[in-house]
Parts: sequence; C-alpha cells; structure tokens
Amino acid sequence: MTPSKESPIGIFDSGIGGLTVVKSVMKALPDEHIIYFGDTARVPYGIKSADTIRQYALQITDFLLKKDVKIILIACNSVASTASKEIKERCKKIPVLDVIDAGTRAAVSQSSGRSNIGVIGTLATIGSGTYEQALRNLNKDIQVYSRPCPLLVPLAEEGWTDNHIAMDVLKLYLSNFKEKGLESIILGCTHYPLFKEGIARILGDELTIIDSADSIAEMTRDHLISQKKQNTASGNGTFECYVSDKPQRFKALAERFLGQKLNRVEIVNLKT
Ligand code: DGL
Repeated sequence: MTPSKESPIGIFDSGIGGLTVVKSVMKALPDEHIIYFGDTARVPYGIKSADTIRQYALQITDFLLKKDVKIILIACNSVASTASKEIKERCKKIPVLDVIDAGTRAAVSQSSGRSNIGVIGTLATIGSGTYEQALRNLNKDIQVYSRPCPLLVPLAEEGWTDNHIAMDVLKLYLSNFKEKGLESIILGCTHYPLFKEGIARILGDELTIIDSADSIAEMTRDHLISQKKQNTASGNGTFECYVSDKPQRFKALAERFLGQKLNRVEIVNLKT
C-alpha cells in the first residue's frame, strides 16, 4: 500500500524522550496523524551495543511501516548514530528524517562564526563520533567538545528532571563545559530537553541550547509540503501511542509532558 496524505507520521524512541519531538511536530503540523512508539521494555538504548540498538530499531521500523506511515522520524540520537543507514534501506521509498541531521543543521545555521560547539548525548551517540563528523561536514573549522551523560536518561524516565539530584548530576556532567568558551551546546539525546531549565541555569545565558525537536519538525513540514504529502484536512490531527511495556506508567508521564489527555497507550510485543 502506498501511504497517502492522510497517512500518519511515525515517530519513535527508546522511551519518553521522543515525545519532545512529538510536541514540536504537533505544534508545527497540527493536522497530522502521529503514531509514536516508545520501547519502554528495553530503555535505555544508549548503554547498549550498536548491533543491539540496530536490531531493536529495525523491529520498530517494521512495526511503523505496517501502520502505513508516510514518513518516519528517528527521535532517538542513539538510533540515528548507529542505525540510520539500515533504517533508510528498510524503508525504501518512505522518507526517514533523524534528530542528528536536524540538530547539527540547527547548530550550524545559528552559529555566529565562533565555532566551539558542545554536544552531550548517550554513550552510544557520543562514542559513535557521528555528531563530530556531521558538524565538520557542514563546517570544517568547528571544534566539537562532547561528553556522554548516561545517568540523565534513567532520571528522565523516572520523572526526576528538576529536583536536587538532577541538578547535582547535571553540575557534574556540565562543569567542564564552562571553560570552553562554547557558542552553543547540542542536546544530543531527545530525553535531555526535559532538563533544559537546569542546563541553562548551570551554563548561563550566553550559550545557545540547541534542541533538535523544533528543527526536525520544520524539516518534516518542509518535506511534506515539497512532496505534496501534507494532510490539509484542518483540525484533524490525532495521536496514537504504543509502547513495549508498562503502558499506564508511560501514559501518566506522557500526559504530564504533553499537557494533554491521551486516549490509550497500547502495549505491543515486537518480537512475535
Ligand atoms: N532518547 C534517546 C536518544 O536520543 C535514547 C536514550 C536512551 O535510551 O539511552 O539517544
């Protein structure tokens, strides 16, 4: 079946982090249907091997393709850094956009010429060197300072994003960045925008915080318009949510973050 204008946008992540992308897509494209998958049975991805992340990501891709999505957004940097080529191959004609491409473009387009950029992300993302390479491809003079922050994902999944424990952890991870004279810092994990206020408090106002969510939402809108695949039926947007474990817990966290009631979060076993 070839997806139509009315077909949904598929978005996925290991857990709740990708909802930061969902929120921006809902704002930029309010008439679109969105299908989200959060792999709550297997989160976190960022401490796992590239092979394992790739295997999980392709299972989710197959699930979304069966839902007849017209475009897939990889709302997980750990997946984008390890499996984006394989996902694109699997999707054939269905376009695939990812948060690393979106985040690096946003950082470079907002750059005022100073070229020290910080990146924080999971062990998988930072270890892959994908950000460094993508930024240098856009501007070879950019100096990249990166750091993995593996404790932030479990804290976000726990809903601990603004208490003193979160602040202590952020201070430990971010303290070295203060001396680097950075122009911006890329939140290279979709869970990290949940800590945006704390990060801004620690790093101060001179530094721009780059969150790829708005950037990927804009790229999606531009792509759908240019391909004449935008859903033009006004006021029609819907949100369907699937997870691999603990749907009730996810529903409560997602409702708090998105600020809206969700009909139902359905559980799916990807391995059967
Ligand atoms: N939110 C994801 C990312 O952008 C995954 C985090 C994780 O599961 O470790 O990398």
